[in-house]
Parts: sequence; C-alpha cells; structure tokens
Amino acid sequence: DWNSGNVIAEQVERIRGQIGTGRVICGLSGGVDSAVAAALVHKAVGDQLVCIFVDHGLLRKGEREQVENDFVASTGVRLVTVDARERFLTALAGVSDPEQKRKIIGREFIRVFEQAEADLIAEAAEEGEPIRFLVQGTLYPDVVESGGGSGAANIKSHHNVGGLPEDLQFELVEPLRTLFKDEVRAIGRELGLPEVIVGRQPFPGPGLGIRIVGEVTGERLDILRDADAIARAELTAAGLDSEIWQCPVVLLADVRSVGVQGDGRTYGHPIVLRPVSSEDAMTADWTRLPYDVLARISNRITNEVREVNRVVLDVTSKPPGTIEWE
Ligand code: XMP
Repeated sequence: DWNSGNVIAEQVERIRGQIGTGRVICGLSGGVDSAVAAALVHKAVGDQLVCIFVDHGLLRKGEREQVENDFVASTGVRLVTVDARERFLTALAGVSDPEQKRKIIGREFIRVFEQAEADLIAEAAEEGEPIRFLVQGTLYPDVVESGGGSGAANIKSHHNVGGLPEDLQFELVEPLRTLFKDEVRAIGRELGLPEVIVGRQPFPGPGLGIRIVGEVTGERLDILRDADAIARAELTAAGLDSEIWQCPVVLLADVRSVGVQGDGRTYGHPIVLRPVSSEDAMTADWTRLPYDVLARISNRITNEVREVNRVVLDVTSKPPGTIEWE
C-alpha cells in the first residue's frame, strides 16, 4: 500500500544510513524532482546538505526567484546560486542541432557546477568533513528511458542521468529512483513544500534551450520567456494545471510568416503550444484545451509579444511525437 508518510520515513532512514555524518551537495534545477530530493535529504541530515542552483539563463520567468525565495523559506536549506547566463549563451552561439545543444548545456552545467563545488569542498575540508555525496532527483521513468533500468535505447540524452562525468568523485544519493511523478508530488506536499514548487509541471534540464528551434540567443530567449509566461498564466487561471502534464511553449525561431497588425504587414515568428496529458511522460496525448482558453492565449501572445504574429497548436500524441520539439 503506497503511502507518502511511509516512503518519507523509509527514505530518511536510508539516507541517514548512506550518508552518516558526511557532507552532501545537491544541485537544484528549479523543478519539483530536485526540490523534493533536496527536501528529503535535508530532513534526513539537516545542514550536512548544501544546495547549488545554476542560473543558466534558460529558465522560465520567475523560476530563479521561486528557488531562492520560496524553496529556501519552506525548507531552510543552505543555498548557493551561480549566475552563469553569459557563459551558456556564449557556449551555445551558432548551435542549432538539438543533441548538440543538450551536450553543450550538459557539459557547461557540469563545469559550472564543479566550480561551485570546489569552493564548498575546500570549506568543508577545513572543517574536517569532506563532501562525499551528491543528490540526484532521478525518477523511475528517467532511469528506464535512459536505458539504465531495462537496456532500452537511449532516446534522448537526459543530462540528469546520462551526462555525469565518468570520474565522478561522489557517491550518488537518489531517493526518488523508484518513484513516479505523482508520488514525488505527494511526498513534496507531505514535506510542506509550497504548491508553486510541488505542483510545477516537468521542465527539461536544458530548459528553454531545447524549446527554440534554431540558434539560442538572448533576444529569442526573452521572446520565448514572455510567451511562455502568458500561456502558463492563462492555463493556471483557467484551472487547467492538474489536467495538463506539461505544456511546452516552443519558438520556431527559423520560421517567419506574414501577418498583419493595424495597417502594417508583419513578418514574425510562430509560437507552438504543446499541451499534453500523460501519466509518466513515456506516452502522452495532446490535451483538448477549451477553445476560449486557446483564444485568450493566442490573443495575448500576439498582442503582447511583438516578434510573434502566429500561435499554433500541436495535436500530435507521443508516440509518434515526443513531448518536446527537440
Ligand atoms: P520527450 O520530449 O522525450 O520528453 O517526450 C519526455 C520528458 O522528458 C523531458 N525531457 C528532458 N528532461 N533533459 C531533461 O532533464 C532533457 O534533455 C529532456 N528532454 C526531454 C520532457 O520535458 C518530458 O517531460
């Protein structure tokens, strides 16, 4: 019989057994998985845990603030934030291929993360307790889809599973490895995390970087961030969050189409809405959103985001389409 209280008690025991008096680091992505994993480990070993949050500039509106303010307030964890926005933009310049983007983002992420770690390691060593553990918010579907569980083909290189350096100096702590998303959310609620974090829809590690079809630039990220914030606000206002697994908002940066606004002809970019319903992201169906909600999102995006003159809806299930466009 599944019960979040039991799972928490079990995991806290396991984590204490694994970590003992050691020090442990956790990277926060802004998503529910790493937040719940960190909160579990914090419950188990308190201030032996330090969290690192890398702002790679590929986040959605308000996400950094949610981590720095809401998550820290509700858990009391010690947090180090690294602002690496410029570095990622530079590394991604000129790159359009999706797997190439993932590789670059994964590689840069590890480098930035390791720099932050180095400081913490030095500090901990001075106090006589080396950092030996790293928390990962890996879920069961991540394990399966990356081939870790069943030998299945690696469909996309999820950098939270497959991209760790081979000479990893840490022992992994993975308290969510047997769980599905809804179970992770239940545990997060039980641990007292705010709804804005626990209810958050899944968001890929490479972030908005794989939601711009074409090269990633600062200007394109701003366009996509604005459109995404509008879509999310309207879906939440319509009470649809629990019906939707996630709704990627994708900028077709290499596509332009002709439009008209007022007296003028426009030549702007399309935005794709990709609302999906799913149990575990391994299969998905496109969500039949109410027309009036779609109309509001479309009107607002085309009115408020100057570079966008068309909003289109993706009506493909998975398979054959993946949830993300890249
Ligand atoms: P796809 O697009 O493969 O997505 O149907 C399945 C789920 O995985 C997320 N996703 C990723 N997560 N790194 C991640 O951490 C990635 O590179 C990545 N690619 C896709 C996607 O958002 C969906 O929830």
